[in-house]
Amino acid sequence: MFRSLTLALLVSSAVAAGVAYAQGPIAGEGAIQSRQAIMKSYGAAAKVGGGMAKGEIPYNPAVGMLVLATLNAGANSVGHFFPEDSQTGGDTEAAPKIWQDMQGFNEKIDELQGATEMALASQPADLDTFKAAFGDVAQNCKSCHEDYRIEKN
Ligand code: HEC
Repeated sequence: MFRSLTLALLVSSAVAAGVAYAQGPIAGEGAIQSRQAIMKSYGAAAKVGGGMAKGEIPYNPAVGMLVLATLNAGANSVGHFFPEDSQTGGDTEAAPKIWQDMQGFNEKIDELQGATEMALASQPADLDTFKAAFGDVAQNCKSCHEDYRIEKN
């Protein structure tokens, strides 16, 4: 269980990193797929991070850093994947508000970047430090989704 979660997280980090270095113009459905891949890596990372925070998975500092590094990598790249021509298409859950209020949306991304930088810098060696760092990052998820994501299911 623990090993497979770690593996899933490694794979999803690789996906996020690959996306960040993708070649070619960032447009349309490709952009939608890329940002969704980053958000899927977020889902996987948050599952492991949340599991450790709740005590369902034993805390491991290396895994803690991997969770925070995944979230940091995504925060540094996701902003590139919301071009004008990607407002609709695919099965995007991005809210039209993103393009009506790009400044507000970018501020949310800035907050996410700041929180993930701080969390990484705290290099959590124990569960309590991890919980604080992860909690500060995780509150950004809901805050952005409430305004800028329309969940379809
Ligand atoms: C700055 C805004 C923002 C933040 C912060 C954010 N998200 Fe998202 N998230 C989005 C948007 C926008 C979508 C919809 C993307 C699309 O479908 O085009 C999304 C979609 C998702 C999805 C669905 C992906 C899919 O297509 O299957 C998951 C899972 C997710 N987010 C998890 C998270 C988690 C966990 C966090 C916090 C660690 C987080 N998000 C933080 C904006 C954000």
